[in-house]
Amino acid sequence: MSNATSPSKEVQLSAATHHACVVGMGWGDEGKGKIVDLLAGEFDVVVRFNGGANAGHTVRIGSDSFALHLLPSGVLRDKAVSVIGPGVVVDPVALVEEIEGLESRGIDLSGRLMISDRAHLVMPYHKLEDRLRDSGAQGKKIGTTAKGIGPCYAEKMLRSSAFRMVDLVHLERQAERLKAVCDRKRAILTAMGADDASLAGGEVEFEQIRATLESTRQKLSRFVAETTAWLDDAVCKGRQLLFESANGMLLDIDHGTFPYVTASHTGLNGVPAGAGVSPHLVRRCVGVSKAYATRVGNGPFPSELMDERGERIREVGREYGTTTGRARRCGWLDAVSLRQTKLLGGVTEIAMMHMDTLSGMDEVGICTGYHLRGETLRSIPADAEDYAAVEPEFEMLPGWKDDVSGVTQFDALPAEARQYVQRVEELVGAPITMVSVGPERNQTIHRS
Ligand code: GDP
Ligand code: IMO
Ligand code: MG
Repeated sequence: MSNATSPSKEVQLSAATHHACVVGMGWGDEGKGKIVDLLAGEFDVVVRFNGGANAGHTVRIGSDSFALHLLPSGVLRDKAVSVIGPGVVVDPVALVEEIEGLESRGIDLSGRLMISDRAHLVMPYHKLEDRLRDSGAQGKKIGTTAKGIGPCYAEKMLRSSAFRMVDLVHLERQAERLKAVCDRKRAILTAMGADDASLAGGEVEFEQIRATLESTRQKLSRFVAETTAWLDDAVCKGRQLLFESANGMLLDIDHGTFPYVTASHTGLNGVPAGAGVSPHLVRRCVGVSKAYATRVGNGPFPSELMDERGERIREVGREYGTTTGRARRCGWLDAVSLRQTKLLGGVTEIAMMHMDTLSGMDEVGICTGYHLRGETLRSIPADAEDYAAVEPEFEMLPGWKDDVSGVTQFDALPAEARQYVQRVEELVGAPITMVSVGPERNQTIHRS
């Protein structure tokens, strides 16, 4: 190995450069795609390190809207290299579709996309297993995206039956093992309740899966690479790296609202392992939060608004899922959970999104405390049933009437909107450096 990768040099360079990470502070869909795209103009490399096609990151450029699932949200900046790290679970069919979708819109990824050879493959049987497990008959119904994320990460932990990007490239070496795994999956999924109709899509058919993988191999092989050494080299050359989280910190497998979570580490905690970089590399972590809270899928949500105010936020904010189209549950911003995810996510600053969506409300609420059976809680309880029983305490602030979607300076916001931003800063204990007032790049107020 060349001395370019020696640890001392890496530490020296990382102190001098400004690598950054963007994480979601809630239950996903906070607006990470917009912020990554916005920041990506200043970075050389954008790296996805967790999750898979459960993510749906929207980037709006003028009248064009892009929904990205596996590709980093830096792909629309032609100078940035996009890297899909080893910690991402890649559905090769979905990735090919996404790449071809961009190509059909004139965006060519040649020479600027790398997929880690260590990234695991989401197989058709993982998606079927996801649906069967989440039917409610197999335990708690989580309301997953049905993209096969949990079963694929579980397979990764089991190891012997897992397939990775490197196996796709050398598919001919995998035929025997793939056949054995397909046969075993047929037995397992049948025992889980899969009948002929649910297996009609060829989810466990060896020949069909092999043919599909072969066609994706032809398209993806040229992008597959050893990304860990490449990223290390990029760091040593002084390149600026931006890490993009999928999902949100409240969906983190260890620190989220288990079991209503996803299957990966979603904050800065996920970066070293999932991207394959030094844990000392990233000092700046932008936590993205809406000016209110949303959640898709099941699970407790103490500040949820079950009345017309929640419906209003959903309609004005167009709160429908980018990946599944499901209506998002909406509620007031929750300063208690934000304090917790600030800590666990390694957040050093906050981007507050959708300030425009709250315009026109008489008053806006912030959840400032949790009470359970007469006790005040310091943090989210481990038991989801306790969390569902929490009584939230709210602080109500005056709303603002004016449309703020054209505001470009913080001082030009209505006084009530400024007061709201400052109160959230106080309660969460982190500076809000960006305030977003619409989906487009230029609808962003930068604060020093
Ligand atoms: P992500 O998964 O965190 O990238 O977020 P999504 O893309 O799933 O959802 C965020 C949605 O809000 C997208 O439709 C964005 O275009 C949109 N959006 C982002 N910021 C703003 C904002 O400040 N105001 C409004 N009205 N929409 C926004
Ligand atoms: P982005 O990156 C919102 C939620 C699902 C479900 C739970 C588990 O767009 O913010 P999974 O399919 O991961 O096993 O589902 O997690 N979920 C998300 N919700 N945005 C996401 O991603 C999500 N990724 C997973 O709705 O409740
Ligand atoms: Mg999303």
